[in-house]
Amino acid sequence: MKNKFYITTPIYYPSAEAHIGHAYCTVMCDILARYKRLRGVETYFLTGTDEHGQKIQEKAKDKGVTPQQYVDEIAAKFIDLWKELRISNDDFIRTTQDRHVKATQKVFSKLFANDDIYLGKYEGWYCTPCESFWTDTQVGEDHLCPDCGRPVHKEVEEAYFFKTQKYLPQLLKEMDENPKFILPIARKNEMMNTFIKPGLNDLCVSRTSFDWGVPILENPKHVMYVWLDALSNYITALGYGSDNDSLFKKFWADPNCEIVHVVGADISRFHVIYWPMFLTGLGLRLPDRVFVHGLLDLNGDKMSKSKGNVVSPLPLIKRYGVDAVRWFLAREFAFGSDGRFTSELFAERTNMDLANNFGNLVNRTSAMIVKYFDGVVPELRSPSEKEENIRVLTEKTVKTYEICMDDLKVSEGLTAVGELLNAANKYIEESQPWVLSKEGRIEELGNVMAVLVNSIVTATKLLSPVLVESAPKVYAQFGLNKEQEKYDLVYEFCPFKGNKVSRCDPLFPRLDIKVETEYIDSISKH
Ligand code: MSP
Repeated sequence: MKNKFYITTPIYYPSAEAHIGHAYCTVMCDILARYKRLRGVETYFLTGTDEHGQKIQEKAKDKGVTPQQYVDEIAAKFIDLWKELRISNDDFIRTTQDRHVKATQKVFSKLFANDDIYLGKYEGWYCTPCESFWTDTQVGEDHLCPDCGRPVHKEVEEAYFFKTQKYLPQLLKEMDENPKFILPIARKNEMMNTFIKPGLNDLCVSRTSFDWGVPILENPKHVMYVWLDALSNYITALGYGSDNDSLFKKFWADPNCEIVHVVGADISRFHVIYWPMFLTGLGLRLPDRVFVHGLLDLNGDKMSKSKGNVVSPLPLIKRYGVDAVRWFLAREFAFGSDGRFTSELFAERTNMDLANNFGNLVNRTSAMIVKYFDGVVPELRSPSEKEENIRVLTEKTVKTYEICMDDLKVSEGLTAVGELLNAANKYIEESQPWVLSKEGRIEELGNVMAVLVNSIVTATKLLSPVLVESAPKVYAQFGLNKEQEKYDLVYEFCPFKGNKVSRCDPLFPRLDIKVETEYIDSISKH
């Protein structure tokens, strides 16, 4: 494992408010960042907003405000939402910030001086909502955008181009030599077959038909095409191209820093093809991995801000708590595959995993320790085969979890922890503590309690990157001191003898599926 970690979300367009799809990507990155910090890895986590481009300019005009006023308002909402979701980002970059504008101009100048960029003419099909040019083949006979399906229009203008062929061999070599450069692995073939094999055109990197962008110093009637501007955020946020580039040196420039970009499948080509080429042109190292996550739809319909077909995370957080929302996003969908948001899935997932499997185990265990042992965790003595089985499973769970999380397989890692909780619940049924108590078999009863506390605390630590609000509550409920809260105790078995346990309100009340699905449907805009 490298000893530093730099993880980024895409920078979101502040062209409408954030929905659960944006929250999905940001929460997954947050979980990975928190996991790395838990493991003692020095971590830097970046998110932000991508504020230039024709679409923003047009939206601002429609609203009768300046583009800057327009993005200020929406960017503030993104920042608020990330607070509500307890996102632990170290920085929030906005592409209209002076630090970014100046550094991006340096990026352009450097590529231009390097003869990677030349002035030419662009004629192509343009999709304004997606800020993307497309070729004849890509838009087909109906002239529809391959990404969003909306009509595209022809545009011709003088423009700067980036020479993609110059760096293609290096990109192909990287893809070959580093099989984990694009994850999940299947996405690599998609990139090759859809974009690289049919022939890669030079990339248009400037526009003259609007002015809401970073001005190109070499030719001020041009503004930078949003993707060169946007992708550069991953280095400008660290101070690249500025006088204060200590973060850049510390993270990006250090080969011992693992760099991970997490992006939706809709924008993978920009990250997998063009971004590495820009970096190579700048003489910089490439990220270690570009993780491409799937897109969520709403009841089978593509979720999209411009269609108004979205679920906002805020009312969900308000009603079910931030942990339920984070858990649902992280556990319900295999990270890397597309997923479907439905109210039933949300309510059922919350009940099954949080109210039943986890919350109930915490409640039952603390109640039994209060009842049978005056609230003091007993010692594990001469364990039987049942206890030994749980010990082995706990060890295995920790290992599986760590391997999965290091490999960005978040949902698989969480599933493994869920299995430990299942086993602990089953262990209660099999051990029948109420019978042990009745028959005065106190040592055996003590063993059961000690093992349950260990299972709960270990599972809670592993889930703590997701369950940010409940984890500290569980630690308090089982009387953990600061030393005991440390992650490394997951490698020990039953070290909580003598801890004072208290009873608390249920962590996750059981939801009435019918009532809650109706509620969630009522807040989902169609
Ligand atoms: N601004 C560009 C990204 C530039 S990165 C240098 C952009 N912004 S976006 O707001 O349209 O989308 C950004 C990301 O939001 C997607 O790549 C994806 O991670 C996330 N999602 C947006 N809609 C989503 C879903 N319906 N489902 C899952 N994720 C979604 O593209």
